[in-house]
Order: sequence, then C-alpha cells, then structure tokens
Amino acid sequence: MNETRHRVLDALADGPVSGPTLADELDISRSAVWKHVEALRDEGFEVRSDDAGYVLDSVPEFGASAVEYGLDAPFSVEYHDSIPSTNARARDLAAEGASDIVVLADEQTGGRGRLDRDWHSPSGGVWLSVLFRPDVPMAHAPVFTLASAVAVTRAAREAGVEASIKWPNDVLVRRGEEERKLVGILTEMEGEADRVSWVVVGIGVNANVDPADLPDEANPTSLSAERGEPVDRRLFTQRLLEEFDSLRQDTEQVVEAWREYATTLGQQVRVETPGGPIEGEAVDIQFPGALVIETESGTEVVSAGDCEHLRPVTE
Ligand code: BTN
Repeated sequence: MNETRHRVLDALADGPVSGPTLADELDISRSAVWKHVEALRDEGFEVRSDDAGYVLDSVPEFGASAVEYGLDAPFSVEYHDSIPSTNARARDLAAEGASDIVVLADEQTGGRGRLDRDWHSPSGGVWLSVLFRPDVPMAHAPVFTLASAVAVTRAAREAGVEASIKWPNDVLVRRGEEERKLVGILTEMEGEADRVSWVVVGIGVNANVDPADLPDEANPTSLSAERGEPVDRRLFTQRLLEEFDSLRQDTEQVVEAWREYATTLGQQVRVETPGGPIEGEAVDIQFPGALVIETESGTEVVSAGDCEHLRPVTE
C-alpha cells in the first residue's frame, strides 16, 4: 500500500474526518482523497461516510492490506488467493532485487516441502514466504529457520494452541506420546560463503484447515482443529511476522528462545544425516542451529538431517 493511502487509512481509523480536512492534512486534492477512499473500499475496508465525515468501520479479514494494516514490522505484503508456491514467487522477487516482502496466499496449488516433498496447501491456511537480505555469512543462515519456528510457535500459543518445536523446524502439537504436525518450514537462500545475498523463509501453517483434508502421513493437525474454532488469520499472521522481525534482528536471542519451546531436547532421537543415521539423546542446540546428540560412542553435533523422536526405552 502506498504511503499516502496508509495515512488516509490511519486518519479514517481515528475518524470521523471530513474530506476537506483530510485533503488539507495530507496536502492532496479532495478528489485524491475520494480516490483513496474508493480504493480502500475496493480492498475490503468498510468506510462509512456521514455528516461528520469518513470513518473506518471494519478491516478486511485477510489479504495484503489487511495484514499490512497495523503491522508492526517493516514488511510489504503481496497476496494471492491462489498461487503455485509462495516460495517460488519469493525467489522470483529475489532475482528482481526485492527485499522485506512477504508473499502470502490463501491456497497453493504446487506447495513445496523439504526433501522435495509436496506440501498440501488448501484454502484456509497461512502459506507465506518472507524474503529478506540479512548481513550475515552463509554459515549463520540456519538461525533464521530456528527464528521462524520460534515466531510461529509464539503466535500459535497466543492463539491458544500449545505448539512446540521438533528439531530443526517442525512445529507440532503433542498429545501424550502423539505428535501432530501443525507447521512446516522450508528455507531457501543464495549467496557466497562470507555473505548471504537473500533468504526466503517459507512457512506453511495449517490454520483454518480440516486435518482430514491433509495427507495422513504427516499426522497433521491445524489451529482451528486444536482450538475448536477458526483463528483470525490476519492477527495470527501479523503476530508471526512481528515476532520473526524482532528475532531476525537479534539472532543472539534465537537459540535460547528455541530451547524454551523445544520438544526434542531430552528425547531419544534418530537423525538421518548425509553420513548415515545418528542415534542417541538430544541434549542441546548450538548456534546457528546444530543439534548436540549424546550417542553410545560419544557426542555428535549434527547440523542438518531428518529427525525422528524415538520412543523412550522402557525398563
Ligand atoms: C516441510 O516439508 O515441512 C516444509 C513445508 C513448507 C511449506 C511452506 S508453505 C509456504 C511456502 N511455500 C512453499 O511452497 N513451501 C513453503
């Protein structure tokens, strides 16, 4: 949304305000004010006009302007009702030189998961990709995956869903021994050893989605299924982006925050690494995201791999 339209919107939110007053305040013509108001109405904002002037009655439920409005983070939002993959779109934007853009969709028709898997993304989810250009070496980039897991966990908890994180980046809901997947994260990046050029963090949240419409293998759940009612996707997305923005700027706090929400630490795990499987007890995480495992033959530090929580050995 352009700067003037933002200011019109802020004034309407504090309204009622008359057209001429607004024109004076923003130093634009009355017809320009009217055009901005009409454009806001087209985007789904309900703007009432009566004798006292214009006033904002309601904000659209979801979409670019809805998420940008009141967002306390410096991202612009590009919204699609349906798109093949928000990550693919964000990569295209990266190639064009863009930064600090969130690509957001209600539905993806070709969503991509880790390890070349498909990611099922029906209407009702929060499927988004954040494109940004951090000034860090490539080796530090995994911290942003952890940061996004922490951000989404915090947003889910604020929405009343007790989410936790399985290393490195699955956000799930535990019920006793059972783990149900709520969120998947796919990070892509480009750069040279000493400097990242861009990072795309793709976050797929099963928000207002019926788990029965998702593939069984992931043992999925959703925010709406856990809460018993739909979540306000606009507020949820805003909180997620605000948390992510604060964590990406202060990566020192990420590992500590991750530990707080981790379900992996203290568990018996099996991690499939390129060098073969590693089994043992997950005891810690190290910056920028490596898992420390106590195995029978000593301590291993694993920076990437597919992690499985094993059932504890009972005596
Ligand atoms: C996983 O396999 O767990 C990661 C899934 C990541 C899915 C998200 S949805 C938004 C973004 N766009 C994609 O195509 N994938 C990611």
